Amino acid sequence: MEIRIIKYQSEDYLKAIQLREKILRLPLGLTLTKEFLEQDKEQYHFALFENERILSSLTYKIMSETSIKMRQVATDKHLQGRGLGKKLVLYSEEYMKKKGYSHIILHARDSAIIFYDKLNYISFGEEFEEVGLPHIKMEKYI
Ligand SMILES: CC(C)(COP(=O)(O)OP(=O)(O)OC[C@H]1O[C@@H](n2cnc3c(N)ncnc32)[C@H](O)[C@@H]1OP(=O)(O)O)[C@@H](O)C(=O)NCCC(=O)NCCS
Repeated sequence: MEIRIIKYQSEDYLKAIQLREKILRLPLGLTLTKEFLEQDKEQYHFALFENERILSSLTYKIMSETSIKMRQVATDKHLQGRGLGKKLVLYSEEYMKKKGYSHIILHARDSAIIFYDKLNYISFGEEFEEVGLPHIKMEKYI
């Protein structure tokens, strides 16, 4: 297993898009829009691979000199609950810390709060809706 930092529009990036679409959008009857994907240009993309198969991925959007937003965290369906997402988050946090970022925020789906909680993210603010699902903001200082 190998973690890769993937370049926008690379072959690996296209695999990440397919995974994100399959895990985060299609179950909701949605697709990743062109406008949404436009933001990917400016973001950091991390993914876990086994040989050429993508297992898990996430992205970070730069919010300020010190703050980043973790987005689009997804592990392939039949591989969830095996520690892959955790491994990717911990690796990427360390990498972003070395880049000088110290604060991570994210919008957690209700169903994923425990996952982030176990990674020491703290919830704040009121519940809100995104992609038709209840979400809560969470943050962590690294
Ligand atoms: C949420 C998600 C990214 C977690 O990735 P994963 O690879 O399944 O997570 P891991 O196996 O690394 O889990 C790490 C820990 O969190 C727990 N966990 C993971 N997802 C969980 C969930 N949805 N509910 C409760 N606990 C969860 C695991 O049991 C594990 O606990 P442990 O360390 O005590 O054993 C993945 O389940 C997923 O892709 N879900 C669908 C898409 C999604 O909801 N993404 C997040 C959007 S905000």
